[in-house]
Amino acid sequence: MYRILSKKILNETVQLMEIEAPYIARRCEPGQFVILRVDENGERIPLTIADYDRERKTVTIIYQIVGYSTKKLSQKEAGDTIQDIAGPLGKPSELKKHKRVLGIGGGVGAAPLYPQIKKLSEMGVNVDVILGGRTKEYVILEDKFREICQNVYIATDDGSRGHRGLVTDVLTKLIEEGKEYDEVIAIGPLVMMKAVCAITREYHIPTSVSLNPIMIDGTGMCGGCRVTVGGKIKFACVDGPDFDGHLVDFEECMRRQRMYKEEEHVCLIGLEG
Ligand code: FES
Repeated sequence: MYRILSKKILNETVQLMEIEAPYIARRCEPGQFVILRVDENGERIPLTIADYDRERKTVTIIYQIVGYSTKKLSQKEAGDTIQDIAGPLGKPSELKKHKRVLGIGGGVGAAPLYPQIKKLSEMGVNVDVILGGRTKEYVILEDKFREICQNVYIATDDGSRGHRGLVTDVLTKLIEEGKEYDEVIAIGPLVMMKAVCAITREYHIPTSVSLNPIMIDGTGMCGGCRVTVGGKIKFACVDGPDFDGHLVDFEECMRRQRMYKEEEHVCLIGLEG
């Protein structure tokens, strides 16, 4: 059993938990994920590690309440325990000592982006970040990014904070203003990562994306995260979750993600009823 040390509500659908997990905290690196089960019969939930503290022996996870299992997780409080948490899994992000890197985090995608940006900043890389959300409430971790980034730009759909519009508007503007980035790291909804890659491809900026959103059980066996990258079949949970965004077949990913919507809906009705 693993103890939840603290819990924070970041907005109406996104929560943060710091969990005591000494083994994982000692070994994990940015980009890796854990699989947790809330209780004995729980479904396996793969979640990218949002932060870790080797001294406190903790890992931080940030999750969006999108389905049956994450709803169950959200009902746990500080002091409660969860059944198990396995990891670290997946390949660590390949972080290079570039001059300047731009991170783009859409909604809850800011969570897996954070440890990568933090590590880059510790390596002496200049980092800027664009954070996006539907409204200002959906922009998460802004303060934490401000501590480590040179510039933090915000975009919201309704203009309640920062630029009114999309993160890709800000990206285009920065490039057109002459900002030079050696790499872009984009993590968020598939449609956002696809749009970012379309722009950075045009400007020849290498771009890394995280395909964590398409993972289901995180074991390499369910096949749910199968994706074509550069014409080759890959599994996000085994070969990723980070990939060269310019090589990812996003259309295929989006089709796959839609496949499980109906089952999820049926389970949720069960939990609420
Ligand atoms: Fe099931 Fe990767 S999540 S095979």
